[in-house]
Amino acid sequence: MTQSPATPIKAIAFDAYATLFDVYCMEALAEEYFPGQGKALTILWRQKQIEYTRIRAMSGQFKTFWEVTRDALIFAGRSLALDLNDFRRQHLMNQYACLRPFPENIATLEALKAMGIPLAILSNGTYSMLNIAVKYNDMNNLFAHILSADSVQTFKTAPAVYQLAVDAFQLPASEILFVSANAWDACGATWFGFTTFWVNRNEQPEEVLDVSPTATGRQLSDVLAYVSGLHG
Ligand code: LAC
Repeated sequence: MTQSPATPIKAIAFDAYATLFDVYCMEALAEEYFPGQGKALTILWRQKQIEYTRIRAMSGQFKTFWEVTRDALIFAGRSLALDLNDFRRQHLMNQYACLRPFPENIATLEALKAMGIPLAILSNGTYSMLNIAVKYNDMNNLFAHILSADSVQTFKTAPAVYQLAVDAFQLPASEILFVSANAWDACGATWFGFTTFWVNRNEQPEEVLDVSPTATGRQLSDVLAYVSGLHG
């Protein structure tokens, strides 16, 4: 279901993990260490990572996304009764430094940039995690801003994190398109006032939160079609 935004899009901010970078690609390494459990570990790790960001944000107990990610991995390992020794844990964490973008992403970002639209990353990830991933994938030239929750010491869906894009672009929220593959993030961003695009890669049902993203697609290249349509 796609509505046309009332205002034109002048800039785009992208969520990082699961949107630009495939967080489930570490399943292969997890599977190597724990045959038959790689998928379960990867899914639980991600769920717990997000859960910890919410608990910490609600309680004002900030810890960086890197630390939260490590803590979530320790929990996931314990929960599945895996022998997650220091070496394996460190190796799995290091995978965050070399996450790959989804296949269609780079061409989509290049095409959007070529349309003259400034792009940003707006993520819970630390500056260091984001910069490493961007550099590793030769994406340095694509983004006008890399914005991290680090600078406001809380996590999405706290409005202070979304506000970083408004401040960086110096535009009203409604003129910024926020793109996320995480439905909860797209909903939080819609509440904040962004025009939003939910990349629903896995045919998930819509969240029941009394709010819907402005537009929805199946992959990042659908954002290009959406924005091209608006620029007609
Ligand atoms: C991020 C996570 C939530 O990049 O995907 O902010």
